[in-house]
Amino acid sequence: MSYENLKEYVTAHGQEHLLKYWPELSDNEREQLAGEIRKLDLAETNEIFRRANEATKVILEKFDDDLKPIPQTHYESVPGLNEEKIAEYENIGFKEISDGKVGVLLLAGGQATRLGFGHPKGMYDVGLPSHKTLFQIQAERILRVQQMAEERTGKYGNITWYIMTSQHTRGPTAKFFKDHSYFGLNEENIVYFEQGTLPCFDFDGKILLDEKHHIASAPDGNGGLYRALKTQGVLDDIKKRGIHHLHGHSVDNILIKVADPVFIGYCKSKNADCAAKVVQKSSPSEPVGVVCRVNGHYKVVEYSELTDEAAERRNPDGRLTFSAGNICNHYFSSEFLHKIADFERKLKLHIAKKKIPYVENGVRQKPTEPNGIKIEKFIFDVFEFAENFICLEVARDVEFSALKNADAAKKDCPSTARQDILNLHRKYIREAGGVISDDVDVEISPLLSYGGENLRELVNNEVFTISPFHLKSMQESSNGYHNGNH
Ligand code: UTP
Repeated sequence: MSYENLKEYVTAHGQEHLLKYWPELSDNEREQLAGEIRKLDLAETNEIFRRANEATKVILEKFDDDLKPIPQTHYESVPGLNEEKIAEYENIGFKEISDGKVGVLLLAGGQATRLGFGHPKGMYDVGLPSHKTLFQIQAERILRVQQMAEERTGKYGNITWYIMTSQHTRGPTAKFFKDHSYFGLNEENIVYFEQGTLPCFDFDGKILLDEKHHIASAPDGNGGLYRALKTQGVLDDIKKRGIHHLHGHSVDNILIKVADPVFIGYCKSKNADCAAKVVQKSSPSEPVGVVCRVNGHYKVVEYSELTDEAAERRNPDGRLTFSAGNICNHYFSSEFLHKIADFERKLKLHIAKKKIPYVENGVRQKPTEPNGIKIEKFIFDVFEFAENFICLEVARDVEFSALKNADAAKKDCPSTARQDILNLHRKYIREAGGVISDDVDVEISPLLSYGGENLRELVNNEVFTISPFHLKSMQESSNGYHNGNH
């Protein structure tokens, strides 16, 4: 495209300011900027801004009359299920794992701005006795659950780990895994793919320049997953490997039960195409989205979208009516993901007002107040397209502790993540007959135990006094990363 054509193109779409500094640019810089502009479909980009703005206006209306909780027929609670039922679901899940039909979709494209960590969040070490990072903990849970499935069924199957990265996290994530020998997993069962980006806008819909020759852009939100699955060939890979079930979750839940066989088994036995694990809201004012039905469609309704009356409403048994707190922990059948690829363009767009560096009078400015918007898609906005959506409630102290903030926030931060996992491990030790007081910190390696199993022989009647302590698997103690992976 010649300069004249480029100029005509941006002018026709009201974005002519993008070429404001063209006369000052070097040849290389001109090439970069022209390339970035060419890559954008400006008609579509303007339309995205318009749709996102429109969606914001709708959000301002609170939901009330049209709002219904998840029907009992589509909701089960792990704390409320008996052991036989849990074992039944778990056995179904183990069989699917052994048959190689289970994959994990890890959302690892976020920028971790609140945590203030300059690397991918999965590389964060919350200060456990072992100093394992989130990535390592998750990798080891995959190894262990594969091993458990083999023990249970007599057949070994691989779980494929699909890791969604973004322009910022792709390189460092892949390097981190390589540098750590993939934490004992087979390299061929780890598939990285990259989500897309969207330009950042000022409040009037003008695309911002991050530098004179570079457009400001940001990852398109964790709902960018669906587009990336298609454009990056992941759907084809899922098909090729014969994977039927995908467990999708955020990178920052330190308690995540990766590829949880109970969840997989529950979803398979109910023939679900899409599902969410939820935790009970702790109080009416907890700022968490709730999974519910709006006009017959399953949705996550944000805290700010609920009226006070709806947030405080209780059932006769005292439970909050809208209590299904969404924790970014989902199941998708592979068929559903293929179907969603065609709906992707209809996904709702969300606006976040942010401080976005921009160029003014030729100088890069770092604003102290929000000066523009980032547009994001959310992973849960596909629930309404599901034909058989179900929920599984799980115990918060066993399955959910998110790492979002730096310690100063005192909430969802490294200290709380560390405490939550150590509390859970104390509970597992006590359940297995060990004696441990609240001031003793013992971390249980995921290679030894995925969810409290496999401990009795080791800890029954043991009194734990050394703190901090890392309780490892035998192979781990002798071999570093080696752990019986096939
Ligand atoms: P959050 O919305 O909490 O964002 O992501 P974040 O990037 O971790 O943190 P902040 O908001 O910058 O402080 C929830 C999950 O979605 C992933 C994150 O990596 C995390 O696992 N995510 C988020 C993506 O994969 N892509 C995105 O564009 C945004």
